[in-house]
Amino acid sequence: MACAGNDQGARSPRVKIVNAKFKTKNSKLKTSAVPPRWRQEVERVLITDQQIARRVKALAREIEKDFGGRDLVVISLLSGTVMFLADLIRQLNLPLRLDFMGVSSYGSGTESGKLVFTKELRLDVRGRDVLLVDDILDTGKTLSQVIPKIRALKPRRLKTCVLLDKSARRVEKIRANYVGFKIPDVFVVGYGLDFAERYRNLPFVGVLRPPVCPKA
Ligand code: PRP
Repeated sequence: MACAGNDQGARSPRVKIVNAKFKTKNSKLKTSAVPPRWRQEVERVLITDQQIARRVKALAREIEKDFGGRDLVVISLLSGTVMFLADLIRQLNLPLRLDFMGVSSYGSGTESGKLVFTKELRLDVRGRDVLLVDDILDTGKTLSQVIPKIRALKPRRLKTCVLLDKSARRVEKIRANYVGFKIPDVFVVGYGLDFAERYRNLPFVGVLRPPVCPKA
């Protein structure tokens, strides 16, 4: 399996798997944690805001260790990354510059479709250390098209960081260097992730009720 970073082979990818299993015995507790405002649409909380905050801090420490002393360019993929990005960069004690790439997979329902670039990079990343941040690595179609595009700009180093890794649906041989949570094959919303552009503002990652979202 290929690694998303361009220094693969130099050392093992730093993929941390946290909350790999969401045990049934906890599901009642998680369900009761859904705020009343969202209970009709959200079936359960998969990852709480506290769990996210803790994990984001830990990810930042890992990234600092790898990029320490370097002037970093953080590239964020719009739009789902907004919350993760904002929290992550506030935890990063590194000099960094921030840029965005607009990408959208215009597909039907919850399926990733053809990738369209809606905003190009503004900063010159040639010879720079680059951290590419996305909210979820699902089929891998997005990163498998974005990474070559960034590599073509000749960064010194490119590593990828995703909040969520849903490996069950992967169709591209790709993995991220930094992973917040490995999640099961359920359709998730919140903390930036949407369904039909809604639910991005939930402070937690949750699972929608079946009538709202028919399938993963
Ligand atoms: C989502 C998400 C990732 C991508 C992952 O983007 O933000 O970029 O899908 O899916 P993949 O691994 O199957 O390619 P989306 O196109 O839904 O746009 P959004 O970020 O604006 O929600």
